[in-house]
Amino acid sequence: MIVIRQYHEDDACTVGRLIADTYSEYNLSCFPPEEVGKFLGPFRHAHSSDPAQQAEIARMIDSEMVFVAEEDGEIVGVLRGRKERLASLFVRGDHHRQGVGRMLVQRFEDESRTLGVRVIRISATVYAVPFYRAMGYQRSTGLRRAWSFDGHGLPVQPMKKKLSGTDSNS
Ligand SMILES: CC(C)(COP(=O)(O)OP(=O)(O)OC[C@H]1O[C@@H](n2cnc3c(N)ncnc32)[C@H](O)[C@@H]1OP(=O)(O)O)[C@@H](O)C(=O)NCCC(=O)NCCS
Repeated sequence: MIVIRQYHEDDACTVGRLIADTYSEYNLSCFPPEEVGKFLGPFRHAHSSDPAQQAEIARMIDSEMVFVAEEDGEIVGVLRGRKERLASLFVRGDHHRQGVGRMLVQRFEDESRTLGVRVIRISATVYAVPFYRAMGYQRSTGLRRAWSFDGHGLPVQPMKKKLSGTDSNS
């Protein structure tokens, strides 16, 4: 059974590896191997046990809202966000299409509603556009090229969703 819970700093090492591996495989595979490290920034050291590198990764993961998806005590997905912005979402490849991403986004939207947020914005990876469309997000502009740490040129699709159950007049 999948459980969504708040992220704790103890999760940083596992979450850092999940982000590095999923990002490399699904979003960065179009870049030459020597470029991939630039896009990963500190996450390129996710499999290192160096305490300074792990501390830097923990700082990067930290955000106003971070949720993890757990199955039998194992972390299989992570969502990071803040008020009005879903910053990143990664589900481990062997758990894709099992509803994990949907559960994480629903939790983030529920928390956002309690904060009075009306619109959530994201810069979606091209890979994730069909997922976000299925979640009710719409394209807000054309495709953009974005920075990711020291890497530039990652295609992203700005998208947004108006949350239901929020007051549209204020
Ligand atoms: C995008 C991502 C988070 C989706 O997570 P997921 O747990 O596989 O998604 P879900 O199983 O909750 O999918 C919900 C619905 O979204 C749609 N969907 C999800 N992945 C899809 C895909 N690859 N192609 C088409 N539709 C997709 C489907 O309608 C799906 O429902 P269904 O399986 O009943 O048909 C995951 O693929 C991922 O981690 N990708 C790599 C990292 C990434 O690009 N993250 C986004 C950064 S902004």
